[in-house]
Amino acid sequence: MGNKTSVLHILYALFPLNYERYIEPFGGSGAVLLDKKKPDKFEVYNDYNHNLVNLFRCMRDRPMAFIKELGFYPLNSRDDFNVIKNFFKQEKFDDKYLDEELELTKIILPDLKAEEIIELYVRMKQDYDLRRAVMFLKLLRYSYSSGGKSFACQPFSVVSLFQLIEQVGKRLENTVIENQDFEVLIKHYDRENAFFYCDPPYFSSEYVYQCGFTWDDHIRLKNALAKARGKWLVSYNDCEEIRNLYDGCSFFDFTRLHNMKQ
Ligand SMILES: C[S@@+](CC[C@H](N)C(=O)[O-])C[C@H]1O[C@@H](n2cnc3c(N)ncnc32)[C@H](O)[C@@H]1O
Repeated sequence: MGNKTSVLHILYALFPLNYERYIEPFGGSGAVLLDKKKPDKFEVYNDYNHNLVNLFRCMRDRPMAFIKELGFYPLNSRDDFNVIKNFFKQEKFDDKYLDEELELTKIILPDLKAEEIIELYVRMKQDYDLRRAVMFLKLLRYSYSSGGKSFACQPFSVVSLFQLIEQVGKRLENTVIENQDFEVLIKHYDRENAFFYCDPPYFSSEYVYQCGFTWDDHIRLKNALAKARGKWLVSYNDCEEIRNLYDGCSFFDFTRLHNMKQ
């Protein structure tokens, strides 16, 4: 997810002094938004990855149910990790018998009993988002560099996440959480008093992200920002292609150590 923690102080120093709307079209792990000294009155977290967005929504809207659910999914082996990873590959839980069960319940049980059981099944189905969020958090937390791809081989207790979930939920109470393509989002929230902090997938590392990102997307972003009435700041890896694309804009360069060297 691109760890920004070590460079946050540089980013914040580059933020404009005055703005009224803070908008992050590529919110990712939320690190930049969550670590700001204080929340802005109007702030928007957005990401195109619907699993990330669902995770933040569930932590914000149902922190206690989230914590309860978390306790039900211990995960401390490569096999468990792979089960979850495969689930996210196919994007579905094993609910294949649920509809059949609902139908049979109506036929087999007397009305009153069936009503109770159907209610339970419906609740299970409604909790799909919650279960998905919990499993996604585990996939990230137990994977190497939070990439969700390979098992980190590090023991980790989910209990240590309980407090974090409560804090994140509280912190996001007044944050708008969106799941849009950046261009739609920028157009929608653009005002003179807006500030967009954009951290798109880096040039030639686009494959890292589930949603992918093409050269046309980099151009789309540049054009959307060029048209914006609000202020903006974009982070990128330093390369000729991006320097040419943003020719005429102000650059601030800095070097950071690779995660492993920190
Ligand atoms: C470099 S990461 C953002 C990292 C974030 N600043 C952090 O600290 O974790 C880029 C993010 O862009 C998202 N993304 C990819 N394509 C997108 C699109 N078309 N619109 C919005 N977000 C997109 C990815 O899902 C990914 O989370």
